[in-house]
Amino acid sequence: MKKRVLSGIRANGRLHLGNYLGAIKGMLELQDNSDYETLYMVADLHTLTTPYDVEELRKNRREIIIDYLAAGLDHGKSILFQQSSNPYHIELAYLFSTVMTVAKMQHLPTFKEKVKQHPENVTIALLNYPVLMAADILVYKADSIPVGLDQEPHIEVVREIARRMNQDFGTYFPEPKRFKTPGQYVPSLLGEGKMSKSIEGSFINLIDDLATIKSKLAKAPTDSGLEGGNIPETGGVGNLFTLLKLFVDKEIFVKFVIDYREKRIRYSDMKQVLADAIFAELKPFQEKRKYFEENPDVVDQIIKDGNKKASEIARETVEEVKKKMGLL
Ligand code: TYM
Repeated sequence: MKKRVLSGIRANGRLHLGNYLGAIKGMLELQDNSDYETLYMVADLHTLTTPYDVEELRKNRREIIIDYLAAGLDHGKSILFQQSSNPYHIELAYLFSTVMTVAKMQHLPTFKEKVKQHPENVTIALLNYPVLMAADILVYKADSIPVGLDQEPHIEVVREIARRMNQDFGTYFPEPKRFKTPGQYVPSLLGEGKMSKSIEGSFINLIDDLATIKSKLAKAPTDSGLEGGNIPETGGVGNLFTLLKLFVDKEIFVKFVIDYREKRIRYSDMKQVLADAIFAELKPFQEKRKYFEENPDVVDQIIKDGNKKASEIARETVEEVKKKMGLL
């Protein structure tokens, strides 16, 4: 039997380079590997765990599927679907919540971060975020999860839930692993932390045109260019080099490293090269996106088919778990 892959992206806004390099690149790679059956969803239920706008969500849960298609995810090879359309995710999440303690969930770094960001909105749904993720993954018994580095603590919880369920109820859940990409941690343009939807100025969107990319990069902090020595690992300059490495050929990258070492780097040149390279990668995405925007019926049919296929697979697992837990 083929191994299963599951991944998802929340529906709260436009996708950025972090989502693309950390998640979608890995999703594409596994889609094209015939050893795997791939399922990719829009995590619209997880979008409800932080403040959101109802109309925006209604739009975005479809837009993310269009982004997937534009990025090269192919409904002929992958099942593309919307999390909330498949009730088995929620049902399994409830069953899983009976084996996880509140204390464990409260200690997760990702939970603590969200509490800091939205102190007024520390809901049960937010606490339950990783449990729902476990249900998303294990309802398909997926064992390879293409997500960025920031998701590692969540995947650890998924493994723990799988172990507990197997021990306590004799289920056969795999212990999934994160599928890593070279861009598993895309830094912010602001010189500190990671590229993130919720931090203005930190990201480049997949739909940005060349002028926008240039102006965003122009604002990225650098130094005098006279530091010399090794490239710093963090800060504005370090982050720019990390991005450069992800987008340009090795010779070009090495040339800028040498320029830096020899104190003759010109950041305006480097940013220009980087902007062109990013845009070259995004252009086919943007063109393909137009096609799907102009053909809404095609998109609707793809979503309808994907939602149906995903539910069929998930039903089996939930029935099995309910039997083992004494509910059937
Ligand atoms: P979300 O929407 O926050 O992030 C979507 C994906 O983008 C990756 N990512 C990054 N990767 C590298 N560098 C960055 N700066 C960067 N920023 C974001 C994230 O790691 C993620 O892969 N909880 C998930 C959604 C989800 C899910 C799932 C994923 C719900 N259920 C089941 C996998 C399996 C999330 O954080 O989405």
